[in-house]
Amino acid sequence: MRCIAVINQKGGVGKTTTTVNLSAALARRGYRVLVCDMDPQANLTVHLDKRPDLEGNTMTNLLVEDTPLQDLVQETSSERLFVVPSDTSLAGVEQVLANRIGRETILREAIEAFANKSEFDFLFLDCPPSLGVLSANALVAADHVVIPMQAEYLSLQGMAKLIEVIMLVQKRLNPQLAVALVLPCMVDSRTNLSTEVLREIDQYFGTQLARTRIRNNVKLAEAPSFGRTIFEHAPDSNGARDYEAVADELLERLGMAKPVTAAEPVEAKPQTDGELAAEG
Ligand SMILES: Nc1ncnc2c1ncn2[C@@H]1O[C@H](COP(=O)(O)OP(=O)(O)O)[C@@H](O)[C@H]1O
Ligand SMILES: [Mg+2]
Repeated sequence: MRCIAVINQKGGVGKTTTTVNLSAALARRGYRVLVCDMDPQANLTVHLDKRPDLEGNTMTNLLVEDTPLQDLVQETSSERLFVVPSDTSLAGVEQVLANRIGRETILREAIEAFANKSEFDFLFLDCPPSLGVLSANALVAADHVVIPMQAEYLSLQGMAKLIEVIMLVQKRLNPQLAVALVLPCMVDSRTNLSTEVLREIDQYFGTQLARTRIRNNVKLAEAPSFGRTIFEHAPDSNGARDYEAVADELLERLGMAKPVTAAEPVEAKPQTDGELAAEG
């Protein structure tokens, strides 16, 4: 099972949108995918049509009471896509764990115990907009990170801090952690990324910058209020095409072949901008 943290301590950059729709794209390809909401704001939980205040079992139970992960998994309306919800109680976890020894490894241990018992191919962690205990748990548990970012000059401030934290986690707690993709989100399709921004991203991340750009797309912004993924809400939108392309790119980065299930014909691969041709 691959464990991927979707992280950026800046809010509103596309973490939750990416977690939901990248996961859904992988589920459509036949993978079994679990997403965990690590954000007390519970946007992911709502996006997948769960009600934060009514879901009894959330990430808080896992982190504070050691409830096994398998007891928290819920189905979603998408086949092969499952969720562990959060609610506002997750905001208190930081304090509750403040003095607990080994607080950064709670999630990793839970996932290790779970991995043997489950048949998931992917586990995604939708991180909160901060670099506290919750994000630390995600970085320690993950083998890869995906960093959604807005491709403006200003949004690059903070990248240095994020990289510093990732490197610290690599050094101290999780040597295998790697950046899989840096994903520009909400890109204005009429303009290219400025050379200034591209140079800056290149300096920080080099080849980890995704070829795919997630364009600004109103359907992506609408989908959460319907509690649907983009593939349920607007399968023919640019948003759906872009996240299909990210899924392809992620699989390529991870060196994973696409599974072909007998039950489902393989769909034609969407080509957004001809950049996918170099596969294989
Ligand atoms: N590509 C996009 N086009 C249009 N709106 C988007 C896009 N990606 C995200 N949004 C919207 O922008 C807001 C912030 O995105 P979100 O994924 O919640 O960010 P984060 O999880 O980083 O805080 C949300 O309202 C979301 O619906
Ligand atoms: Mg979010």
